[in-house]
Amino acid sequence: MITRVKGTHDFLDLSLFNFIVNQAKDHLTTYHFSEIKTPILEPLDLFKRSLGVYTDVVSKEMFLIQGQPDEQICLRPEATASTVRAFVENGIQDTPWKVFTYGSMYRHERPQKGRFREFNQINIETIGSDSIAQDVQLIKMLDRFFHEKLNLNNYALLINFLGCFEDRVMYRALLKDFLDSPQAELICANCVERKDKNIMRVLDCKNITCQRIYMDTPLLINNLCGTCDQEWNQLQEQLHLLSVSYAVKPNLVRGLDYYNKTVFEFTSDNLGAQSAFCGGGRYDQLISQIGGKEDQPSIGAAMGIERLILLLEPMRDTLPLPQPPALHLILPMGKEQIALALLLADTLQAANLCTDVMVEGASIKNMMRKANKLGAAYALILGDQEQENKTVTVKNMVTGTEERIAQIDLVAYLKK
Ligand code: HAM
Repeated sequence: MITRVKGTHDFLDLSLFNFIVNQAKDHLTTYHFSEIKTPILEPLDLFKRSLGVYTDVVSKEMFLIQGQPDEQICLRPEATASTVRAFVENGIQDTPWKVFTYGSMYRHERPQKGRFREFNQINIETIGSDSIAQDVQLIKMLDRFFHEKLNLNNYALLINFLGCFEDRVMYRALLKDFLDSPQAELICANCVERKDKNIMRVLDCKNITCQRIYMDTPLLINNLCGTCDQEWNQLQEQLHLLSVSYAVKPNLVRGLDYYNKTVFEFTSDNLGAQSAFCGGGRYDQLISQIGGKEDQPSIGAAMGIERLILLLEPMRDTLPLPQPPALHLILPMGKEQIALALLLADTLQAANLCTDVMVEGASIKNMMRKANKLGAAYALILGDQEQENKTVTVKNMVTGTEERIAQIDLVAYLKK
C-alpha cells in the first residue's frame, strides 16, 4: 500500500481550514489588503539570497526539483521572498503595496506536533513603507484577527527590535566578545558553529544550558542607535495606545535572515514545542538582496493554518462555522424506481436543494439507518405506489412525521 509522504497530511474535513481562510480574507479586506497568488515553484536562488544560506530553512530544509541542468528550482518554503519578487518583477509602482496570499509551503523539517513538511500559511505583506506605524497597524490587525475573528484568548504576543544594519554590525561584535568569554564556555556544538556563520542565531538555541548562558548576553535593544531607539519606543507606545498586550522578548531573532527592526511572534502554550502560530517582522533590504535596484522598506507576517486548527479544534462548538445545508436523501425501494429517483434528484439539485440518491439497492431499514447516520433532514421514499401515483413519501427525519406529496409539488414543499 502506498502511503502519504512523511510530514504531509490529508485534510478530510476542511471546515476549520476554510473558516480560518474565509475569516482572514474578510478581515484583511477590511484592512485594505488584496489577495495575490504566486507560484509554488521558485528559483532556489531566491531563498538563498533572501532567507540566508546559513539559515536552517535554506541549509537543510529545501525541497529541490529536478529541472533542466542549468535550472535550480525548489518548492517555496515561505511566501515573503516570492511576494517581493512579484513586486519587483511586475514593476509595481503604487506603494505601500498591501497584499496577502495563502497556500502550501514546504520545509524538510523533522515532523512533530504542529510541524509538517508540507504546511499552509496565510502570508501578509506591506511593501514600501518605512513608517513604524505600519508595523503597529499590522500587529493590531493580527491581534484583532486572533481575538475577535477566531475567538482565541490564550496566547501571547512577543516583540523585539533588531535595529538597523549598523546596529547589528556593532551588536554582533558585542555578542562575539561575550561568546569568546569564559562565561560562554559551555555553549553547544551547534552554537559554536553558528558563532562563526550566523552569530545572532545562537540566541534562538533551544538547548537549556545555552539558554541559561544567553540570559547574560548584552541586549540589542539596549544598544540601538538614536533613530532606532526612538522607533522602538514609538512601536511600544503605539501598541499601547491601540490596547495591544505584548511582552518584550529581547532574544527573539526569528529563523530567517532578512529581518531588521521590528520582529514579533504570537505564541500559545497549547501548541507544545512548536508554540508560534504566527511570526513576522520588518525587512528593509530584501529587494536589493534579491537583485532589485531600489530597496523598499517593508513589513509582513505569516500564520500557520495547521497550528491555528490545533488551537481551534477543541473550541469548534463555540465557533460560528457555516452549517452544511439540509440533506434530502432519495430512497428508491427497488431497481424500478432508480430512473425516477435520478430525475427527481436532478429537479431538486437544479432548485439548489442538497440532494443525494441511494442507488446501491439496500433494504428500507438499512437505507433509513444510513439516512440517519448521514444526518439527512428528509428521506424521500419512492416505492411502487409512489411511482404509480406520481407522489413521494417525505419523511421528516427530525420529527419522524411522514407525508405523501405530489412529485410536481415537491420542490415548493421542501422550500417552504
Ligand atoms: P515563519 O516564522 O518561518 O515565518 O513561519 C510563520 C508561521 O508558519 C509559523 O509561526 C508557523 O505557525 C508556521 N510554520 C512554519 N513552519 C511550519 C511547519 N514546518 N509546519 C507547520 N507550520 C509551520 C515566515 O515564514 C515568514 N515568511 C513570515 C513573514 C512574512 N515575515 C515577514 N513577512
